[in-house]
Amino acid sequence: MFDDNPIIKKIAIFFGVSVDCLHTSPIRDLSENNVWKIEIGQNTFALKQHFIHTPIGECKFTPFEIESKILKVLKSTGCSVPKIIWQSEKDQSLLIEWCGNQTLDDMIQKSRINWKATVSHAILQFYYIEKAFQKSQDDLTPYVFPVDQDQQLQGILGQCRKIVSYIVQSSERVQRTNHQKRIDLCWNNISNYLFSTQKSLGSLDHNTHNILINQQKTFFIDFASIGWNWQAKRLVQSFNSLGANQPGGNFVSLINQEIIEACMEISGQKQANADIDLHNLLFYLSIIHRILRATSRPNHPDSVRLRKAWGNLKTRLDRAINIIIKSNLSNYAEANTIRQIIADCWLTKNTQE
Ligand SMILES: Nc1ncnc2c1ncn2[C@@H]1O[C@H](COP(=O)(O)OP(=O)(O)O)[C@@H](O)[C@H]1O
Ligand SMILES: [Mg+2]
Repeated sequence: MFDDNPIIKKIAIFFGVSVDCLHTSPIRDLSENNVWKIEIGQNTFALKQHFIHTPIGECKFTPFEIESKILKVLKSTGCSVPKIIWQSEKDQSLLIEWCGNQTLDDMIQKSRINWKATVSHAILQFYYIEKAFQKSQDDLTPYVFPVDQDQQLQGILGQCRKIVSYIVQSSERVQRTNHQKRIDLCWNNISNYLFSTQKSLGSLDHNTHNILINQQKTFFIDFASIGWNWQAKRLVQSFNSLGANQPGGNFVSLINQEIIEACMEISGQKQANADIDLHNLLFYLSIIHRILRATSRPNHPDSVRLRKAWGNLKTRLDRAINIIIKSNLSNYAEANTIRQIIADCWLTKNTQE
């Protein structure tokens, strides 16, 4: 049992209490758990153990060292991240402030009400963290994980382009060649635009499980890898709930025009709407790519895992298409054309069936 773990003994010594005073519970199923809720009397903490004890790839620091450094830097600039209470380099473990039982993903999937205040708070915190990374750029550069984001984006654009083509081809009635020409033109403009936008420093792991809700307050967690990436991509990853492994879970996008206006106001970036719109479009086209790949090779272990996490893939596909068609996030002409083409083809196909 974890209570016998030497780390628990060290924490008990740190607090000057006996091991019996610590109540520990895993956050996930034991087989894949790395975070423990630790209760000592009235106080609650999270213990995060890093299982990878060596730097990954060409990075100079271990995930534990990166997370410890980033949490300290962000906390010292007033960001809403957990405070480090105790840490052990030998055990690559961090004892941090408890930030509540609920992730943003849990909240969005379980209740459809009262999001607004929480999401607004989280958006504000998101931009504080973005600013803190910008301010501490020189100090944090040695911790950067060298990953070729341009190459990744190129790959994503290629995949997404194929998905749009697939949707057009699977539609019986539309004039395919016409559409293909329009798609090529749009895709060129979208690619050129996205590659012309600046990347900035931030966490490389953004998702709705890395935002925690404690009453009305929101906290950002999980800073074990950082790198250069597009801010809009981070925002899209943070504010789209996937609802994986939740009974009846499905995609929920928190990004709407109101949120984008708030983002533009907070960040002062006039083109933020186009950036967010395009990254959001790619996010959902990539999801459709994953679903269709899983459907085409149902017995592959990845497909089995995806079905286990996402449930009925047809329901998921319909939701992803629906979000794309309905997400009127900017006036970026090519994004609207792609949405229109998808709407025409998908609706025609599905009303014929
Ligand atoms: N400080 C904390 N307070 C409350 N829960 C936490 C805290 N840190 C982590 N958790 C829980 O543990 C999960 C995994 O933690 P995270 O730091 O994101 O590690 P991982 O790298 O495994 O994703 C989170 O999604 C959250 O549910
Ligand atoms: Mg995480």
